[in-house]
Amino acid sequence: MKKKKKKTKKVISRELGLEVGSICGRYFLKLQHLHYGYWTGDIEVDAANLHLAQDKYVKFTISHVPDGVKTILDVGCGTGEIAETLLDMGYQVDGVSPCPFLKKRASELLGDRSHIFECFYEDLQAANRYDMVLFCESFQYIDMEQALSKTNEFLKSGGYLFICDVFRKDIEGKMAMSGGHKLSKFYELIDKFPFRLIENVDITEETAPNMDLFCDVLENVVQPVVDAGVRFFESRYPIALKFLRWKYRKKIGKVHKKYLEGGRSGEDFKKCKSYQLFLYKKDAQE
Ligand SMILES: C[S@@+](CC[C@H](N)C(=O)[O-])C[C@H]1O[C@@H](n2cnc3c(N)ncnc32)[C@H](O)[C@@H]1O
Repeated sequence: MKKKKKKTKKVISRELGLEVGSICGRYFLKLQHLHYGYWTGDIEVDAANLHLAQDKYVKFTISHVPDGVKTILDVGCGTGEIAETLLDMGYQVDGVSPCPFLKKRASELLGDRSHIFECFYEDLQAANRYDMVLFCESFQYIDMEQALSKTNEFLKSGGYLFICDVFRKDIEGKMAMSGGHKLSKFYELIDKFPFRLIENVDITEETAPNMDLFCDVLENVVQPVVDAGVRFFESRYPIALKFLRWKYRKKIGKVHKKYLEGGRSGEDFKKCKSYQLFLYKKDAQE
């Protein structure tokens, strides 16, 4: 029997990160989604326009859903906004969400129009079979082999695997930006499954500006707020701060290196990442 996916520290902090991102994004920037924006030259790259770029991402993605699809499994459905758009268009959509906070939000939004399985995709047990399994920026969080094998299980014969997500290029050395499966590994693995490539669109250029926005927020919001906090503690509790700095020096060093020493711009993203839309068809198996 397969073991249930364990909630590791990394998974817990990632879920919390998505939860906090969803709360802050909605409150400060009126964001409904949890994915990147799709920036075409007609909108200025500005945090205030991120919601417009995210809507474009949804339109772009949905425009690639193939004809004939009626039932969709939205894996990692986040706040449920994409599922809602698909439901409004007449598709039947179920979701998968391992995060109780996001699942609650999606359930409130979708009501009884959709069933959301609260579990990791790796652990999903269901009798349903779908015309399409959709991963919108959720593929990167799931072990690839398990994601593909589960998708093979939940797709009807002739159904579609739809992935829109960021991948890593084969780059020597350590990059500041982590995340995303290796593209070369993905190509190796997908060949072992009965999936035939129907469409592939590279949207690295249109998604790279999100990193410029991210850098801007780090430089102009996060760094000054952290500096102010440190100054406050230095004036009130200098000895405690000195101790904490020493005790967590490795962690502080890591965070500093990861977020505050550059290497995260749109140009860096284009060098080491590749944002791809993949549409595969499951071939009938004899
Ligand atoms: C970046 S968000 C994208 C949400 C949504 N698809 C969207 O485009 O707005 C990633 C989503 O993947 C989900 N996720 C992470 N690990 C997962 C797993 N192992 N199985 C299923 N979903 C997962 C998260 O809970 C979250 O909803």
